[in-house]
Amino acid sequence: MWSVKSDVSVSIAILASGRGSNFWAIHQAIEANELQARIVAVVSDQKDALVLSRAQQAQVPAFCVPWPDRKLFSSSSELRADHEQRVLKALEPFAPRFLVLAGYMRILSPLLIEAFRSECGYSRIVNIHPSLLPAFCGVHSYAQAFHYGVKWTGVTVHFVESAVDTGPICAQEVFPISDCQTPEEVEKRGLEIEHRLFPETLKWLLPEQFRLETRAEGRICVCPN
Ligand code: GRF
Repeated sequence: MWSVKSDVSVSIAILASGRGSNFWAIHQAIEANELQARIVAVVSDQKDALVLSRAQQAQVPAFCVPWPDRKLFSSSSELRADHEQRVLKALEPFAPRFLVLAGYMRILSPLLIEAFRSECGYSRIVNIHPSLLPAFCGVHSYAQAFHYGVKWTGVTVHFVESAVDTGPICAQEVFPISDCQTPEEVEKRGLEIEHRLFPETLKWLLPEQFRLETRAEGRICVCPN
């Protein structure tokens, strides 16, 4: 049977540093016509990242923009800006409307964030974080949750701003972990949720079908229509 893909799809570029299971989940959702989007490029900062071969398998243009030699820069902000300039240059021919971070292990600088800033104020850069933000920011969040001994943790999809893991929250899902014996068990449970929640959230985020509410201290709350 022919499957007719809608042409009302939003172009996205995926930035990832590792194995790319979230890239694959998004790709699958698009292939199944559950998500109207086009992955126009996959960019990694790691030349051996599994995500690059997964992207080739999916016939999506994929390339590495390597992290520069630290010694050439006097500050980490200069180094980050240099890398982001090269990422932007590489993405230019693909003109993505959104950037989707799927396991991208770099902090973004204002350069990239401003390049994707929308007229409504949010940046069209979305990330998936493996905890119930604002708890367990940073890296190894499933392990952090396990070792802290919390009974529940979760997954968050959020817009990206320069301060790490602080951008407006778009979607969250919680899951119990009190019966998990290892951090790996927590991660396995979390990834299953990520692979469903990320494409589900992109479904309404990419066509920008949401409203923004300002809460105390200027925090923005993203509410799907
Ligand atoms: C995921 O747990 C994601 O939440 C986090 O990094 C991991 C990436 O996994 N930001 P993968 O590369 O998509 O398999």
